[in-house]
Amino acid sequence: MDLCRYNWPLAAPRIRIAPSLLAADFACLRADVVKVEAGGAEILHLDVMDGHFVPNISFGVPVIEKLRPHSKLYFDAHLMIDEPARYAEAFAKAGCDLLTFHIEVTDTPRKIAEQIHALGIQAGIVLNPSTPADAVFDVLPDVELVLVMSVWPGFGGQSFIADVLPKVTAIRQRLRPDQRLEIDGGIALKTIGQAAAAGADTFVAGTAVFGQADPAAAMRAMQGAAAAAGAA
Ligand code: DX5
Ligand code: ZN
Repeated sequence: MDLCRYNWPLAAPRIRIAPSLLAADFACLRADVVKVEAGGAEILHLDVMDGHFVPNISFGVPVIEKLRPHSKLYFDAHLMIDEPARYAEAFAKAGCDLLTFHIEVTDTPRKIAEQIHALGIQAGIVLNPSTPADAVFDVLPDVELVLVMSVWPGFGGQSFIADVLPKVTAIRQRLRPDQRLEIDGGIALKTIGQAAAAGADTFVAGTAVFGQADPAAAMRAMQGAAAAAGAA
């Protein structure tokens, strides 16, 4: 664990936009990744869906491992799958830097976090919109990142659920300075300020980045809005 934290590239708290590949052009994935990396992103959010935990199928290990040599971005894989423990090793070998798994799929989150750390990468825990903050309190010391869903997972382009904001604040109060608090779903220029004010520091954005004519400008604008609201 200690060694893992020593190598934790996101330990420094600052506002980061994490573009979600789900909203990229799947016929031009490499070009789209290069575009957001050149535009200043540090993180690439990878939405993995199994068609069981969520009612949609996206992409998995082969796509991630093909993209890996073309990018230095921090690969943040959001595993919307029923059996994260079964596939963790394959995603680590594909080049993911962080695996986040849902608390709703396991009674042994600390064990899964330990398994992910043993693979030499970071671990994060995810909560669906209706899952209370206290569901993850026990596992907080064992993860580098907590991801609060601000839409129901499965699809991009949904509306932001502001009801999750008190949960963001409750979790923030229990995190160390080196732990990141990520929020995912419906993040855009209009909503990012609320999320930052509530305590999030890492903002997944699909449509609001890849759906824009100038993804780099969109990221800069959101970063500015989050900084203004977070500092207020
Ligand atoms: C939803 C995914 C999100 C999604 C966000 O299941 O976890 O990461 O890509 O998309 P937007 O930013 O369009 O709401
Ligand atoms: Zn996601």
